[in-house]
Amino acid sequence: MCAEPAPDLDMDKIHTFAFKVLGDFTAAQMGTLSVIADRLGLWAHLAEAGPVSSAAFAERAGINERYAREWLSAMACHGYIEYDDGAKRFSMTPEQAFCLVNRDSPLYLGSLFGMAPTSWSNVDLLTESFKHGGGVPQERFGNEFWCGFERFTRTGFRNNLVQDWIPAMPEVDATLRAGGSVADVGCGNGQALLFLAQGYPAATLVGFDNYAPAIEAANENARAAGLADRVRYEVRDVTQGIPGSYDLITTFDVVHDMPRPRPAMQEIHKALKPDGTYFVLEFNFSSDLQSNIDHPLGIGAFGYSASTNYCMTQALAVGGEGTGTCMGEEKARELAAEGGFTHFRRIDFPNNPFNLFFEIRS
Ligand SMILES: C[S@@+](CC[C@H](N)C(=O)[O-])C[C@H]1O[C@@H](n2cnc3c(N)ncnc32)[C@H](O)[C@@H]1O
Repeated sequence: MCAEPAPDLDMDKIHTFAFKVLGDFTAAQMGTLSVIADRLGLWAHLAEAGPVSSAAFAERAGINERYAREWLSAMACHGYIEYDDGAKRFSMTPEQAFCLVNRDSPLYLGSLFGMAPTSWSNVDLLTESFKHGGGVPQERFGNEFWCGFERFTRTGFRNNLVQDWIPAMPEVDATLRAGGSVADVGCGNGQALLFLAQGYPAATLVGFDNYAPAIEAANENARAAGLADRVRYEVRDVTQGIPGSYDLITTFDVVHDMPRPRPAMQEIHKALKPDGTYFVLEFNFSSDLQSNIDHPLGIGAFGYSASTNYCMTQALAVGGEGTGTCMGEEKARELAAEGGFTHFRRIDFPNNPFNLFFEIRS
């Protein structure tokens, strides 16, 4: 039976909210079309082709014309591409291509969609975790997920690491120029060290990650970049200790993921040289929910949903702390102090509002 809205309900508010929900569902449905675009390079084909008919686009992309036409129509309605009704041609603006096609651009986001199918394929296990606790273990996030994530974080390393982030710590910059040592903890597929190797040719560089497939991918990336003789990657859970001592230790988007961040912090502290620096990148969230609801970039839900889909759940899956993506500066300060660090400086990069950066020392 259909319920009539109660008379005291604000119908304008209901319509606004209903269309928000419909828009969100549309975005979720558009997700599969974006995954396919990422897999088949459809945005790249369109950007390179310039204004094209659906038939010419289908031929160029090597896909079925009927599917091409429906995909182009959906993307045009969604504002991801342009449509010229007079000429019946589809195209992309340089701005759309900057975000969806150009893998080197600092705002390349086409990579993110590659992570979505994995999250959906884990939804049954995640539902069970909601009911009984536990989580979705890291090995349930395969290649497509990590390849998407690697392309997402790579753009920050490519555009900022050597240009802005390290030079913001002049002593570290000078040490690395003179041949200092770096350990990247939680190095994932290894991209950060590849850019450091190019920017600091005298530095010695090692990456640690406890996820063996990531280290395999990192070594392959180093070989492909011709840097395998300069950069070494090793499978290691750093809570078990970090061999060697370093001028710089980095964690890029790692601490909030660590099942056991407290012992990890202590091991990082031990592995630094007395005047060494620990450089941390985290997402720009707060530990405080209301601050994330009021986030100036409007990304609070991005943080908590990413956390539930991956960051928190993979830590809870192994009985970890489950810090979660919205760790924020407050929690980072607490963990650093507990790890034995006494100096904590937040560094702001106006061109990187999406991240937080901390310079931490003894
Ligand atoms: C979100 S990924 C970040 C990867 C990479 N730093 C980047 O920015 O692309 C977090 C990584 O931390 C690693 N990690 C978490 N806890 C770890 C630990 N105790 N020891 C080593 N690596 C760890 C995970 O395996 C994962 O590859």
